[in-house]
Amino acid sequence: MKNLKASEIRQKFLDYFVEQGHMIEPSASLVPIDDDSLLWINSGVATLKKYFDGREIPKKPRIVNSQKAIRTNDIENVGFTARHHTFFEMLGNFSIGNYFKKEAIEFAWEFLTSDKWMGMEKERLYVTIHPEDTEAYSLWHEDIGLEESRIIRIEGNFWDIGEGPSGPNTEIFYDRGSDYGQNDPAEEMYPGGENERYLEVWNLVFSEFNHNKDHTYTPLPNKNIDTGMGLERMASISQNVRTNYETDLFMPIIKEVEVISGKNYLEKDNYDVAFKIIADHIRTISFAIADGALPANEGRGYVLRRLLRRAVRFSQSLEINEPFMFKLVDIVAQIMEPYYPNVKEKSDFIKRVVRSEEKRFHETLEEGMAILNNLVDKAKEDNDEISGEDAFKLYDTYGFPIELTEEIASQQYLTIDMDGFDREMSKQRDRARQARQSSDSMQVQSEVLKKITTQSDFVGYEVEDKITTLTDIVHNGKAVKRVEAGETIYFILKETPFYAVSGGQVADEGIVSNENFEIKVTEVTKAPNGQNLHQGEVQFGTVQVGEKVSASINHNERQAIKKNHSATHLLHAALKEILGEHVNQAGSLVASDYMRFDFSHFGPMSDEEVRKVESLVNEKIWENINVVIQEMPLEEAKQMGAMALFGEKYGDIVRVVNMAPFSIELCGGIHVTNTAEIGLFKIISESGTGAGVRRLEAVTGKAAFLYLQDIQDKFNSVKSKVKVKDDNQIEDKVDQLIHDEKVLTKRVDQFNKELTRLKMGDITEQVEEINGFKVFATEVEVSNPKAIREVMDDFKSKLQDTIIILVSNVNGKVSLIATVPKDLTNQVKAGNIIKEMAPVVGGNGGGRPDMAQGGGTQPENITESLRFIKNYIKEL
Ligand code: ALA
Repeated sequence: MKNLKASEIRQKFLDYFVEQGHMIEPSASLVPIDDDSLLWINSGVATLKKYFDGREIPKKPRIVNSQKAIRTNDIENVGFTARHHTFFEMLGNFSIGNYFKKEAIEFAWEFLTSDKWMGMEKERLYVTIHPEDTEAYSLWHEDIGLEESRIIRIEGNFWDIGEGPSGPNTEIFYDRGSDYGQNDPAEEMYPGGENERYLEVWNLVFSEFNHNKDHTYTPLPNKNIDTGMGLERMASISQNVRTNYETDLFMPIIKEVEVISGKNYLEKDNYDVAFKIIADHIRTISFAIADGALPANEGRGYVLRRLLRRAVRFSQSLEINEPFMFKLVDIVAQIMEPYYPNVKEKSDFIKRVVRSEEKRFHETLEEGMAILNNLVDKAKEDNDEISGEDAFKLYDTYGFPIELTEEIASQQYLTIDMDGFDREMSKQRDRARQARQSSDSMQVQSEVLKKITTQSDFVGYEVEDKITTLTDIVHNGKAVKRVEAGETIYFILKETPFYAVSGGQVADEGIVSNENFEIKVTEVTKAPNGQNLHQGEVQFGTVQVGEKVSASINHNERQAIKKNHSATHLLHAALKEILGEHVNQAGSLVASDYMRFDFSHFGPMSDEEVRKVESLVNEKIWENINVVIQEMPLEEAKQMGAMALFGEKYGDIVRVVNMAPFSIELCGGIHVTNTAEIGLFKIISESGTGAGVRRLEAVTGKAAFLYLQDIQDKFNSVKSKVKVKDDNQIEDKVDQLIHDEKVLTKRVDQFNKELTRLKMGDITEQVEEINGFKVFATEVEVSNPKAIREVMDDFKSKLQDTIIILVSNVNGKVSLIATVPKDLTNQVKAGNIIKEMAPVVGGNGGGRPDMAQGGGTQPENITESLRFIKNYIKEL
C-alpha cells in the first residue's frame, strides 16, 4: 500500500477513470440546485440524479468525480469516533447505462491493487455482497479470484437513502492487520462489523431502481453504476494513521487549534474530542458558506448555526473563551485549494460570517451554560429530566440549539421533555402569527367575498383617475345594495386606479364619489377572486350599487410611493454590489413617507458601508436611467438576468422592471419613469430584526430634503447654543466643552472633600467611648452617594482602632456605611450595625463583619438613627 497525500489519492482516482474513458464532472455546490428532496448534497450520485433517472442525457455515459458532501444524520457522534464527519469528499465512478457489474468490479480491483495506482495488498481485501446477488458473487469469485471465505453475504447490502437511485451493492474492505484488533466475531471483528480493523473503502452500487417520492420503486431506464469511496478514510489507510483526523486533511487544522489553545491534541481524552469536533465542523461551515449558505434559524442555515455553536461549546473544554473558529478558515482554504479554490476566494467573507456568528453566541454562552448547569443539577435531584420550558428558554434567550442542550443533557444521563419544548415552540409561533394578523373583520367576511365574481380591472399603471361603475358593496359582513353616510364598507369597482397592497407597496388612498355621495378610501386589498377590494368610509350621501363614480387616488402620495418603490430596487442592487451577492431581499415596505428594506446579511453594516450604499443609489438617481417596464415569459426574464425574489412564486408571464444595467427585477409595483424623478435618497436607520436579517429605513425626494433640513436646523441650534459661527469650529468647541466638564467635576469633588474635612474639624475629638469601644458616628456632607466611601477611607486611616459609622443625605437618598476594626469583629459586626440602623431611615443593608453599607429614604430620621445605633452599641 502506498503512502499518499489525500490530494494525490484524489488525483489518481480521477486519472485512473479518465484512462478508462470517463469524463470528469467537477464537484457541484453543496447546496442542491433544483432538488428540494435534499438539504445538502450528500453523495457523489446526488448531483447526477438527472442522468440516472433519464431526465437528461450526459455528454458521455462514463463519469468520474470527487464530490464534496455534507451528512447531518449523526452530528452528535462526530468527534467521539474515528470516522464520523459532517463534511467529507466522495470519490466515485458512474456508468449511465454503459458498463455494469463486471467492469465496475474489475475497475475497482485494478485501481486498488495495481502498483501503478493504490498498490494495496490483495490478500488484505475482503468484500461483502447482497445475498441474492449471485452475479456479483461469481464476478468476485471467478473473475477476480477471491476465495469464498473472503466474500461475505450481508442482507443490508442494498443502497437506498430515500428519493433517488438505489440498488444492491458490494463493499470492499481493507484489513489493517492485528495492530488494530484480534479477530473475534463477538467483538464484531470481521469485515462489515463495527470495528477499526476491517475498514470499508469503497461502495459499488448497482443502481437499478428509482426510489420515488411516494416510496415506491420503479426500474430505472438503464442499469447504472454508482460508486463511492470516502477520501478521508482512504487517506487514513494510505497514511496508516489511527483515525481520519490524523491525515493531512485534518492535522494542519488540529495543529492550528493547538497553537490557539495552548493544549495538546492527545494530552487528555476529552481534548481530542474537542479538537476533532472543531476540525470537522470548520470544514463544513467554510465549505457551506463558500457555496452560499449562511447561518440562520431554520433549514440549511440552522445546521450551520448548530455546528458552529457545538464547536464553540466544545472549545470551552480547551479553555478557549473567545471567537477563534474564523481563524481556522485560512488553513481549511489552504488544505483544500488544489481542488476547491472557491473556499480561498471567498475566505474573507467566510471569516466575517463565522466571526460574527461566534461573537453572537459568546455574548450569551457563559450565562446560558451557568443556567444549563443549574438545570442539570436540579434535574439530577428530581426526575432526571429537564423541562421543555427550560430548554426552550435556553434556545430562545441564549441561542442554545435544542440538539446541543440534548447532547449536553445526555452526557449527564438526563433527558429533555421534548413534547414540552415543542409546545413552547408552537406557542411562540402562534404568538408571532397573531401579531401578524390584523384585527380586521375580513376573516369573517371572506365567505361573502368568495361569492363575488364580478370582473374588476386594475388600470392604475396607466391612470390615476377613472370614471367607472361601483359593482359590489359589503357592509357588516353582508353583500348589500345601498349604504348610508357614516358607515365603513368594502366595495369593488369595474375598473380601478387604486393599487392593492402587495409586494411591500402600500395601497393607494383617495376618493370615490359622484354627485350623490363620497367615499374616502383607506385601504385596498385583494378579494378572494382577485378583484381589488376597497375599504372606506362613506363621508356623505347614499351609496348605491350600479352607480357611475369617479375614482381618484391621492396623486401626491402616489408620486412619493413610486419614488420609494423605485429606490428600493436601486437599494437592493447597491447592497449586492457593496456587501456581496449573498444579500437577498427578505421583506420591504414601500409607503408614501418612507421605505423599509429587510435583507439577509450576517452582521451590522458599518457606517462606511451605509455611506457607500447611499452614495451609490444617489449616483444612479443622477444618472437619469429610464425605467422600462415590460411583460414577458419568465424564462426570457431570467435570461435578461432579472433578479427574482427568493422563494417567491411567479406566473408564466412576469412583469420586469428594468433600470439596466444596474437593476433588473421582477415586480408588480408602481415605478417612476426615470430614476431622476426620485430626486434624493437618504438612509435614516440601520438595525437588525433577527438572525441574519438587517433592516434599512430610508426616505426619498421631498421627505429626504425635509429630513436633511431638520438635521441642519438642529445643527444650527447647537451652534448658536455653544456660540460658534463657523461650521468648521463646532467639533473643536464640543470637544473643548466635554474636556472642561471633566476637569470641573474633578475639582468639585476635591473641594467637597476639603470642605468635609474643614467642617469636621479635628475628628479625634469627636470620638466617643461607648461600652468600652471607641465609636465615631456622624452625618457627613457629600456630593454624591458614592463619595461616602472615600470619606470613610479617609477617616479610617486616621482612626484605626475606632468603630466608624457615617450617614449622608444626597437629595433625600440616605446612605449608611460602617466599619469595625478587624480585632473587634468578634464582638461587634459592621453588618449587624447597618442591619439594625437602616430600618430607622426606612431602608435596608448589610455586608461583612468589618465593612457594611446600606441605604434609606427618610433623611428626617438621620439624627434618630445615630442615637439609636449608639444605644445599640451601649447595650451589646
Ligand atoms: N452512492 C453510494 C454511497 O454514497 C456510492 O455510498
